[in-house]
Amino acid sequence: MTLEAHVTQGPLTTEAGAPVADNQNSATAGAGGPVLIQDQSLLEKLAHFNRERIPERIVHARGAGAYGTFTLTRDVSQWTRAAFLSEVGKETETFLRFSTVAGNLGSADAVRDPRGFALKFYTEEGNYDLVGNNTPVFFIKDAIKFPDFIHTQKRDPYTGSQEADNVWDFWGLSPESTHQVTWLFGDRGIPATLRHMNGYGSHTYQWNNEAGEVFWVKYHFKTDQGIKNLTQDEANKLAGEDPDSHQRDLREAIERGDFPSWTVQVQIMPEADAATYRFNPFDLTKVWPHADYPPIEIGKLELNRNPENIFAEVEQSIFSPAHFVPGIGPSPDKMLQGRLFAYGDAHRYRVGINADHLPVNRPHATEARTNSRDGYLYDGRHKGAKNYEPNSFGGPSQTDRPLWQGTSVTGVTGSTTAPVHAEDNDFVQAGNLYRLYSEDEKSRLIDNLAGFIAKVSREDIADRAINNFRQADDDFGKRLEAAVQALRG
Ligand code: HEM
Repeated sequence: MTLEAHVTQGPLTTEAGAPVADNQNSATAGAGGPVLIQDQSLLEKLAHFNRERIPERIVHARGAGAYGTFTLTRDVSQWTRAAFLSEVGKETETFLRFSTVAGNLGSADAVRDPRGFALKFYTEEGNYDLVGNNTPVFFIKDAIKFPDFIHTQKRDPYTGSQEADNVWDFWGLSPESTHQVTWLFGDRGIPATLRHMNGYGSHTYQWNNEAGEVFWVKYHFKTDQGIKNLTQDEANKLAGEDPDSHQRDLREAIERGDFPSWTVQVQIMPEADAATYRFNPFDLTKVWPHADYPPIEIGKLELNRNPENIFAEVEQSIFSPAHFVPGIGPSPDKMLQGRLFAYGDAHRYRVGINADHLPVNRPHATEARTNSRDGYLYDGRHKGAKNYEPNSFGGPSQTDRPLWQGTSVTGVTGSTTAPVHAEDNDFVQAGNLYRLYSEDEKSRLIDNLAGFIAKVSREDIADRAINNFRQADDDFGKRLEAAVQALRG
């Protein structure tokens, strides 16, 4: 009998395995009398029920996931020594969790919000997590601003709702958000399904090859289904009628064998270019224009298997930007550096110290060999083996080879802004994006922005927000101001 059959068939039992005689009536002192504390099966059933939830993710709470396969289609060994990227045709098992950012666990899928694109590669050198979004850039460029930013997206401490005042106050006072906001309120801000959108690693990461040479890399996952979006009106209707629209669409597509796939591309920058590139290449609010570093196709990602249990495999899944493998590492991007701490900390709080032992999280193509032991729900997998290193009992030992190459640094410690390169400012790429939109796209962008800014209660907050778009492009600012004024009457 399989484990599944053991726990799903046969007589009903208590948690300790004793048969349950009556699952309809709790035990009482005489018919019609009070309930007895000796009714163990009632007590443990109520107690277990009270503990069925774990803390939801502080961001990206609402999500859907699926397993899949990454296949390498191009030799990239000149740039990285990662084993899973070593041989054309090589396949690596993956798990991808999509999410919205601001909504709570039960919120609707069809909303204007970035989508998380968190991808776990189960490689033979350990799990590599690429925790990205469906947007190539982000709102801010320093991790120290993230909790403040998210507070403005989530519920106000007094009203208990998301407030336009808070959202636009923060964005207006954080002009580096202008590029991402111009993206988010454009057509791609509400994808039609999770299958019809791109994914991005967003940050710049380090690749290093056998010879120890360093390259800076950005990842792109281009949907093979084509881009499809919802208008604000379509999304408003769908979110009300079918809050689970994206989750259901993904599951049903995989159930019918219509496996979604993405073409994987990278932009590669030789290490030496970084210092003099026209934009700071580690600034998350900027893209590297394709003309500067053309995307190179390296693989295919396909999703082909649904999780069997949403709680075990999606809710308890953990992804960390700090999960690297040999040949891949972080860049000095200040946002990424903050994220290297934040995720492991969240996992320890949310799922527990042994979260990495769960089937969805543990390595599938190798074993984790660590001397970290015990803690809540430790399953005793190491039996009596020594739990220290170095040891004389054949225990695991260090490799002496770092996963990534060091980077050279200069200067004194202190709270500093990231270096500004020749063409860097907060508005240049937002303006370029605006000018790239067609006339119809521009109109929808203005309508979407104006509809939200018109809800702001204070003129100074609305004016400051509009001024950021004016600095990106004069026409953008003028049209937005007129649209907001028309709505305010
Ligand atoms: C410094 C800035 C950031 C901080 C401090 C931060 C922090 C967090 C935390 C604490 C979680 C919840 C993790 C969990 O409970 O398992 C999370 C989830 C997530 N974040 Fe961030 N985040 C930041 C920026 C970003 C950026 C820039 C991206 C994308 C480029 C991103 C993508 C995601 C995704 C996709 C998830 C959901 C992962 C999953 O599916 O479990 N975050 N973030």
